[in-house]
Amino acid sequence: MVYWVYQLICRTRQSSKSYLKFQTFNNPKIFNIFIIKKMNLLFYLSGEHPTLPKSELVGVLEGEGIDYMLEYEKDRLLILNADVEEIGFLRRLAMTRSVSKFIAIHAGALLPSVSDLRSATGDDLEEVASQVHAGGKISEFKTFAVRCKCLDDNDSMAVEKELGGRIKELSGLGVDLTAPDVTVQCFSDNEYFVGIKIDVPGENFEGRKPQHRPYFHPTSMHPKIARVLVNLARVKAGDRILDPFCGTGGILIEAGLIGVKVIGLDIDGRMVSGAKKNLGFYGISGDVRAGNALEIYKKFQQMDAVVTDLPYGRSSFIPDPDLKRFCSKFIVSAYNALKKEGYLILVLPTEHKPDFSEFIAVERHDLYIHKTLTRRIRVLRKV
Ligand SMILES: C[S@@+](CC[C@H](N)C(=O)[O-])C[C@H]1O[C@@H](n2cnc3c(N)ncnc32)[C@H](O)[C@@H]1O
Repeated sequence: MVYWVYQLICRTRQSSKSYLKFQTFNNPKIFNIFIIKKMNLLFYLSGEHPTLPKSELVGVLEGEGIDYMLEYEKDRLLILNADVEEIGFLRRLAMTRSVSKFIAIHAGALLPSVSDLRSATGDDLEEVASQVHAGGKISEFKTFAVRCKCLDDNDSMAVEKELGGRIKELSGLGVDLTAPDVTVQCFSDNEYFVGIKIDVPGENFEGRKPQHRPYFHPTSMHPKIARVLVNLARVKAGDRILDPFCGTGGILIEAGLIGVKVIGLDIDGRMVSGAKKNLGFYGISGDVRAGNALEIYKKFQQMDAVVTDLPYGRSSFIPDPDLKRFCSKFIVSAYNALKKEGYLILVLPTEHKPDFSEFIAVERHDLYIHKTLTRRIRVLRKV
């Protein structure tokens, strides 16, 4: 039966994607016995921004050329069916909290409350445990731990204890809470999502904050945001990114660290030498030079992406008091420097609305900084 459901989904995926998704994910009877056999990844996204985490993930998948299909989405939980041969790309993500190899959703009746859970017969968790045992290939390990994040009223520790006990009974594995061979990741959000946690080495964004670099200037943005901008640009290792207002090199550092070739330009010579120092500090070799962003197309063409945080005259200098005119000129310059289908990622305060009609506007995200400043990130594609 499981195999039949799976085959049915594969065969009809192209023709009736959404209908089937609805059927599968909204019918507990089907879903309770549905264990996906292919590489399905369960993402738990960061809650620090309402739209950026998912867009960043999509940007990385598209940049890496990974075919994927969104199978299911519930707030910060996403299940993707992806053709992934290796998972190193997961490390690029700045706004994903955890990734697991998805096993199952249990969409049956849930634990009504913690006290019920403690005395429950635990039919639901019994089923979840048997799905983990059957679909998680955990028997090849010696020890395991269950980690649960409850996004509903359930109690994480109670679920971990109950589910852990049942998996232990079924598998005979030992429980090791400090250094388990395998971690079963569970999310409770009015239904259970379970998977096998993938160890993704964490990036030290805090450690790379502007004040920790050899050359500091307060206009540089947080490295996490800089990484997200790079990821929104759909680039992969070996591609070329240009930041024509590079300042101290914050965006270039995040691009260079994932193997992207970086080119930076700044009109201010002090910034150019500062950015060179900063890149060197992280072992990144890049082409950083003095120049005017309004003329990049004269020296650079066929760039894979242009990613930049524009000066807007508050704490960084702009040579033209008419910011709209300045930005619009820059956008034409960037258009001519990009390859077809290349991305321009722009950051500007929300009140500035330059003309970017030559581009396809893919999306935009607003970042509240303080009472008088909200930055808008625009994702634009050259056609
Ligand atoms: C907001 S800052 C960029 C901050 C940068 N993302 C960082 O990590 O430091 C803008 C930069 O644009 C530079 N700039 C201003 N006008 C320029 C122009 N016409 N061409 C190139 N750079 C320019 C300024 O010198 C400043 O360093």
